Amino acid sequence: MKFLIKNVKLTDHRGSKISDLLIEDEIIKKIGKDLSAYEDSMVIDGTGKVLMPSFVDLHVHFRDPGYTYKEDIESGSRAALKGGYTICYAMANTKPVCDNMEIYNYIREKSKDLDLIDLYQNIAVTKNLSGKELTDFESFGDDVKFISDDGRGILSNHVMNQACLEAKKHNIGIMVHGEDPEISPYDYRLAEDIITLRDSYLSKITGAKIHFSHVSTRGSVEIIRDYKAQGANITCETTPHHIYLAGEDFRVNPPIREKADNEALIQGLKDGTIDCISTDHAPHSKEDKEKGAPGMVGLETAFATSYTALVDSGNLSLEKLSQVMAYNPAKILGLDHGEIKEGARADLVLVDCEEEYIVSQADIVSKSKNSPFIGRKLKGKVLMTFRKGRLMYGGKN
Ligand code: DOR
Repeated sequence: MKFLIKNVKLTDHRGSKISDLLIEDEIIKKIGKDLSAYEDSMVIDGTGKVLMPSFVDLHVHFRDPGYTYKEDIESGSRAALKGGYTICYAMANTKPVCDNMEIYNYIREKSKDLDLIDLYQNIAVTKNLSGKELTDFESFGDDVKFISDDGRGILSNHVMNQACLEAKKHNIGIMVHGEDPEISPYDYRLAEDIITLRDSYLSKITGAKIHFSHVSTRGSVEIIRDYKAQGANITCETTPHHIYLAGEDFRVNPPIREKADNEALIQGLKDGTIDCISTDHAPHSKEDKEKGAPGMVGLETAFATSYTALVDSGNLSLEKLSQVMAYNPAKILGLDHGEIKEGARADLVLVDCEEEYIVSQADIVSKSKNSPFIGRKLKGKVLMTFRKGRLMYGGKN
């Protein structure tokens, strides 16, 4: 199937221009003014719309195996496509925990068979997310890029130091859940900042590659800025909800912070301290939420919340948003993605930046509906998502 998208604004981290774009044989075949010669393709009028590299999410929970009543690989992948994502990285807090190659391969194979998105998978840093005994790094296949104890974190300095030394030896990155669980019950700000400080320092002295997940405090932004300047091998993400929401009482870890934190996160995105936006898509059933499960679904609203809070508000350019939602997270994974250029794999998202809409529960395709954005008016709608040149969401799909 060929697609000709006409008169569309092409935006990536390098800039924007109005053009036509032809998708053929899985790739961006041609970019240019007036490609009318190719009208044997499916023609899409892109007037007033923006075509960007599809988004990359370094932080999702697809709950498979073990909690598939909340989400599974297929429903999570469909939520991703609806949100404009074609590449996701899943966390290891499944049941059983993804702490070995058997579970890792099960997830990867299932996702490859589905062929909906490119799903990468974290292996836990410690067995059963215990925070005590390291998983068997020797057994990891070559495609294991990151490991993480997200959801819990690692309290022991000794275990984290060993993890850094081993990760460095095996050239694997660690995604850090920045929380000291002994401190978080009474000071969740300090609980995040103290782990950010410890692990930035450990990265600096061991050389281990560390990516900080869901950074939410101004203190952590300052620490990461400082350690990046010192040359530590660190990157980080924040989430759409930590940018958009302030002072609200929706249960999520880390918690929703204050206005001053939003401002620090935005400043961090502007100056490059914060590399990317990840959703921390954390589906939970209504019953589990009522019992206190932390987190929210985020894939389907991430572009609109980020666009509304960052671009429509005048804080960031659309090009910068593309950088932090596509180019930078792809770079962290070592993937060649995030630029609109001839020959690149046609993983693209068509958005309408002018459309405003109210988020409705009925529209959510994730199995779980735990979103604080339901009922809110957002700006910026994902219209179509292409992966490997195929229309995976939108249009007549
Ligand atoms: O709110 C959260 N939910 N934060 C996490 O770190 C884990 C996640 C989950 O798995 O539900």
